[in-house]
Amino acid sequence: MTAKVGPRSVALLELFGDGRSCAEVLSTMVPGLEPPELISDLLDKLTQLIELGMLQSADEQEQSGTALRAEPFQTFDQFDYHARMLSDARRVTAYADAIAAMVAPNSVVLEIGAGTGILSVLAAKRGARVLSIERENVIEMARQMVAEADIGDRVTLFAGKSGAVELPERADLLVCELVGNRILNEGLLESVLDARRRLLRAGASVVPRALRVVAYPIEYGFRERYGERLQGAGARVGISLQPMLRWLDEYLSKHQVVDELGAGESVNVLGPATRALEVDLLDVETAGFESAAALHIHEAGRLDAVLLAFELELCAGVELDNRIESAPTHWKNPLYVLPAARNVRPGDRFDVRLRYESQSGFSVLPAA
Ligand SMILES: C[S@@+](CC[C@H](N)C(=O)[O-])C[C@H]1O[C@@H](n2cnc3c(N)ncnc32)[C@H](O)[C@@H]1O
Repeated sequence: MTAKVGPRSVALLELFGDGRSCAEVLSTMVPGLEPPELISDLLDKLTQLIELGMLQSADEQEQSGTALRAEPFQTFDQFDYHARMLSDARRVTAYADAIAAMVAPNSVVLEIGAGTGILSVLAAKRGARVLSIERENVIEMARQMVAEADIGDRVTLFAGKSGAVELPERADLLVCELVGNRILNEGLLESVLDARRRLLRAGASVVPRALRVVAYPIEYGFRERYGERLQGAGARVGISLQPMLRWLDEYLSKHQVVDELGAGESVNVLGPATRALEVDLLDVETAGFESAAALHIHEAGRLDAVLLAFELELCAGVELDNRIESAPTHWKNPLYVLPAARNVRPGDRFDVRLRYESQSGFSVLPAA
């Protein structure tokens, strides 16, 4: 079989070097490809390379986690997502402090989720060799950031999902910033568990070291917000939208609705933060939890949601959080709408059950 791969096939393979798709490679070649026999020769060669397992079909790439999605910064959303993170001074400073404290010269650092490469570059500047994994095409931006920094060849980038990537050696330290607006929705736990099993040395450290989740009782007025919006819409055309409100009530009684509160948006906070979950990322064994928390009510109001915030212990003495009383970050806070609203008074206590599952994320419901 290998005899089929001649110099022309090798030249062809090089065109796919950066994870480019067939369509992308063909679009750069086809204008110069005439006569048609050359195109059919090219397609034959591509088919052979796929059969030999040297190129992957799009389906195989998706399954193996090596598919690269969307061009870097092709949409403003992608630019905006990374630009917001890079401009979040609390986030970047906290990670820079943790990297300065934890990275030893000549150590091997693994970063999962390089994004634009900022944390990998910071680790390389401390003298580490960095193995850095990124699953999206923003890895091209990381390559440029690495080239721009004066760090020689100390950062090696690997394209793909960390769970599907094999590394040449195990690392002494994992650095990752995989926290989303819904806290665990960027796969922090799953990625750390896999890295501890396959990609880190025994005794390796992890940044962040621990994650805590705190919960606040909230008067959000979720139903009223929707009610006003629907009534206004109905009134404009003279139609009652009451059936929609009944649908909302029924929906809320069966499913949990999650909204997100951005910095500067306000809600009535009815009581202080209560710790609802604590995860030590060096010890955790599963990516599923259930815990209970007693929320204390300090203000009278109509309780209809629970807001969550995170506290990351990046390393000893370096913390990063998005508690609502802290200085703002780029992260939003998830609001878990309760199945039914209730009137509360100072001194009341409201018991909740917090559950996390990999597939569905957090749910926060009244304790039975
Ligand atoms: C929150 S961003 C952080 C980016 C960068 N480290 C920073 O601090 O600016 C997370 C990045 O991790 C990537 N990512 C998430 N899970 C991943 C995984 N399991 N393997 C590889 N990349 C992952 C996402 O595509 C995204 O670019």
